[in-house]
Amino acid sequence: MRDFPNLETQDPPSNKSIRLKIEKLVYGGYGLGHWKDKAVLTRYSAPNELAEVSVLEEKKDYIEAQVERVIISSNVRREAPCPHYGVCGGCQIQHIEYDAQVEAKEEILLETLQRIGKIKEVNLLDSVYSGQEFGYRIRVQFKVKDGRVGFFKWGSKEVVDVESCPLAHPKINELLPHIKECAKYIRELQEIHVSYSPSEDTYLVKFVSPTEIDKGFLTNLKEDCLPESVVGIGDYSRLRNLLNRRYWIGKDYLFMKVGRWTFRVSADAFFQVNHTLWERFIEAVTEKVSFKKAVDLYCGVGFFTLPLSEKGNFIEGSDIGVSAINDAQYNAKVNGRDNVVFVKSDAYRHLKSRAGEVLDLVVLDPPRSGLENNEIDLLVKNKPERIIYISCNPSTLARDLKVLLKGGYRLEGVRLVDMFPQTYHIESISYLTVDKP
Ligand SMILES: C[S@@+](CC[C@H](N)C(=O)[O-])C[C@H]1O[C@@H](n2cnc3c(N)ncnc32)[C@H](O)[C@@H]1O
Repeated sequence: MRDFPNLETQDPPSNKSIRLKIEKLVYGGYGLGHWKDKAVLTRYSAPNELAEVSVLEEKKDYIEAQVERVIISSNVRREAPCPHYGVCGGCQIQHIEYDAQVEAKEEILLETLQRIGKIKEVNLLDSVYSGQEFGYRIRVQFKVKDGRVGFFKWGSKEVVDVESCPLAHPKINELLPHIKECAKYIRELQEIHVSYSPSEDTYLVKFVSPTEIDKGFLTNLKEDCLPESVVGIGDYSRLRNLLNRRYWIGKDYLFMKVGRWTFRVSADAFFQVNHTLWERFIEAVTEKVSFKKAVDLYCGVGFFTLPLSEKGNFIEGSDIGVSAINDAQYNAKVNGRDNVVFVKSDAYRHLKSRAGEVLDLVVLDPPRSGLENNEIDLLVKNKPERIIYISCNPSTLARDLKVLLKGGYRLEGVRLVDMFPQTYHIESISYLTVDKP
């Protein structure tokens, strides 16, 4: 760490501006500094730099701030390539060199497992880097408000209009002007979701608004404003976190090719968003695996289940989503896998139905909220020989690992998968085995 001037002789934060030494990056994309023992979480800062920061909000336990002027720059700071960066809130760490982003995420992952999971020593395995820093997203959710189409500002519901997004696949940016044209004609439009298949060069588009869009009108809009490569469009409403389909026009699935695997992915099914690391992600989950019987809970359209099926005798995948399971069943057939069964079930019920059976492997890939307590209880009771836990939230992962380790598992290693470059999001794989005395 460099030597910085004594910062505590300055005016207090009530004056709204302080000089701050940034110690490291923390979860959320903030740089962490301290002002008189109080943590200061600073937007757009970089590790090991001195900056003048303006106070956005003073909370009981910490201060939230934003860099106004860099005084001594971090050696990993760079000019962010996107012209919207700093106004648009889609990215938080684009001003940091890519290797340093990955290094910071590794540290945050380790620190979270130690702090929340109380895991003293973690074997951090080689990270899976994104194949490309930019142009990696094959699915983008644009927000819409008052004629602006883009993304929310950091910590706000204000929409920043963008001409393009460097994180999106270039073909999604090519479609954006057409999408914006459509947005002009739909009243109360809130969101537009675009999915793109690089293998087919086709798109699906969802329009999200509180009131139904006339079907004839939307059909005409598709013909007038959108290219033929948009093979299907849907009319949706949003209720809190859930999208509800009102109707669909055209094809409602895309095919994605991942190495020698073909996946049908319906408009309402999940698929891993970063196409530049698909194959290496599958490899990292399936390497060194062998089993007689395995279960892949939260399986989606079978992204891991099908490649895993080559590593053992029999695997069962389950997911709560109807579309996902229909796709998964179709995908098993199309890829010629006959040792796989897919069932529509929530994870708890599926585990319960397998109580008492000997399972060699359970693969878990839950949403951000992590595992439910009753799911962990069943896992610990049933004691599959190995667990592979894929997570997109280090805090819930650490919470769940703490219970699994207490319940008789050993954490063999953890691997970062940099699914979301330029953002604070952290995807990882944890490899666990039953702890034998
Ligand atoms: C992060 S995605 C992972 C999908 C898949 N493993 C993949 O890589 O494509 C999480 C999946 O969990 C499913 N899901 C959410 N809650 C669930 C639950 N309680 N039980 C089973 N599946 C659930 C969702 O439908 C979604 O497909």
